[in-house]
Order: sequence, then C-alpha cells, then structure tokens
Amino acid sequence: MFPSHRPRRLRTTPAMRRLVSETTVRPRQLVLPMFVKEGATEPLAVASMPGVVQHTRESLLKAATEAVSAGIGGIMLFGVPARRDATGSAGTDPDGILNAALRDVRAEVGDAVVLMSDCCLDEFTDHGHCGVLADDGTVDNDATLAHYARLAVAQADAGAHLIGPSGMMDGQVAAIREALDAAGHLDTGILAYTAKYASAFYGPFRDAVESQLSGDRKTYQQDPANIREALREASLDLAEGADILMVKPAMSYLDVLRAVAEMSDVPVAAYQVSGEYAMIEAAAANGWIDRGRAILETLTGIRRAGADIVLTYWAVEAAGWLDRD
Ligand code: PBG
Repeated sequence: MFPSHRPRRLRTTPAMRRLVSETTVRPRQLVLPMFVKEGATEPLAVASMPGVVQHTRESLLKAATEAVSAGIGGIMLFGVPARRDATGSAGTDPDGILNAALRDVRAEVGDAVVLMSDCCLDEFTDHGHCGVLADDGTVDNDATLAHYARLAVAQADAGAHLIGPSGMMDGQVAAIREALDAAGHLDTGILAYTAKYASAFYGPFRDAVESQLSGDRKTYQQDPANIREALREASLDLAEGADILMVKPAMSYLDVLRAVAEMSDVPVAAYQVSGEYAMIEAAAANGWIDRGRAILETLTGIRRAGADIVLTYWAVEAAGWLDRD
C-alpha cells in the first residue's frame, strides 16, 4: 500500500484545518508605529508608504483612540521635528514634538494601550545619525549614551510605558535603565532594539521621518550576514535589564528571530519595517498579489518564527480581520 502516510488527511476540511492550526495572530500582539509631525495642520501622506501618514497632534489622538478600539497591544511613536541640530536637542525638550505628542496620547488613552517611544537621535539630528558625532565625524558611542539617558527620562516623564532604544549603541540599555531608575521611573520598561540590521528595508521610513542621513549606519547597525552577534547583543541586552527584546527587520531575519526567541527569558518582538510594508502594498496595487492574504501570511510567519509581539504598519487594519482572543 503506497503511500502509507497521508498528511493530507489533516487538511481535508476547514474544521480539520482549524483543529490542527498551530499559530495564532491576535490584535493584542500587534503594535502600530505612528509618525507625528511638528507644525502639521493636516495629516500628510508618506508617498513610499501608501496608507501611512505623518499625523498632526490632533489626528494622532484620533488614530490612537482607533487603535484602542481595534484592541491592538501598543503604539510606537516617532516624532518629526521642525528644527534639527547636531545633538538632536529637540528630543529632550519637554515641549519637543515627540514628548508633547506622548503627553497628549497618554492623557487621551491612559493605560488602555501600551505607549512606546522611539529613543534615538536620528529623527532630531541635522546629520541624521543615531548618535552625536566626534570631531572626526564618527558616531561617538559613549557621548551618545548620555543623550539617550536624557531622552529616555524625558519620554518617561511624558508618559511612555516602554522606551524603545533603536540606535544600537553599546551599553544603551544599561544607561537608560540607570537613568530611568535614578529619575524614579522604576515601572517604565525598555523595549530593546537588540538585533537591528543595517537594512535597505528602512528606506520608506526615512521618507516618513524626513531623515537627513547621507551615508549609512554600518558602524552601529549589524551586518545582514551575521547571526552570532545578534545572540551576543541579546545576551548583553538581557544582562543590562531589557524588558523585551526586538529583532528588526522581520521577514529577512526569521532565523535570527527564532534563535533569539529560543534563548530569551523575556518576551520577543519583531519589527515588520517600512520596506516590508511598501513591497506588499506596491505588489498589491499592481494586482500581483492578494493584499489581505499576503499581509496575514507575513504576520503568521513572523509569529511562527517566534515573535510574541509584532510591530507592523498594518496593526489596526489587520486587527479588524482577526479574532480578539
Ligand atoms: C531609528 C529607526 C529606524 C527605524 C525605526 N527606528 C530607521 C533607521 O534605523 O534608519 C526604521 C523603521 C522602519 O523602516 O519601518 N530611529
């Protein structure tokens, strides 16, 4: 008798397939990244990210309320300032766009959703790097840590529940933890960008934040060829007190995500970045793929690889397609 094993039996009916399905995606596991632009009087479309906007402070509040109604787990805010300088001082200004927006959103939605903030200098610097520069033009790791510490405290003061250091400086988690504790923010957590690769898939994001960067971030973000250093970064972030680890981008790094998920004793997030979003939107707009199915397939794949939490620009829309529990 051949074949003697018939795996197709478990695929015969929708009920059978539902019974044996291993991976779920739930709204509570999704986090929406959002942009807020200083001085904007109406939401501005981001050309390379169809459906994503730079919010005004008012439209951000409406969108945050919608995110709560959709039942998603969190929102991650990025600020687009009107003025930039060498040290990114608008990031620490309590009235700077990101801190002002955090305060607004926290006042509007309270603890109904987890409020996260990008703790990095690149949106605020006139050179576009994630840290301050030394005289020779290189990114000065240790001088940058002092800036991250101040940014983190300003963001926690403004109401962020989780601080998201995304600059890949050595020691950033420890520096931020120490500063938060010293300021009395014992319950403010750190969502650490642990394994963040120097990726071409951040291109559309740099439009969204009007990045001033020329050159690249290869001296601080990781080489796409490497997984070992991702595990080293993960061990360091855990030792420094990270509350959640993150791998970024998601789809080209599912093996890294799996490896980090297997060694981590804290929850693990993955960031489905702007270029991953743009690719699917562009293909779908051309009629080349089924948009909704493709989106759900990517979210399922990222969850299957080991992500407890997925940052995705489709968070609210996808939540509308998913079971709540
Ligand atoms: C840096 C930051 C970046 C992204 C999130 N945080 C850009 C970069 O490292 O160049 C990219 C997110 C995306 O592409 O969706 N603050």
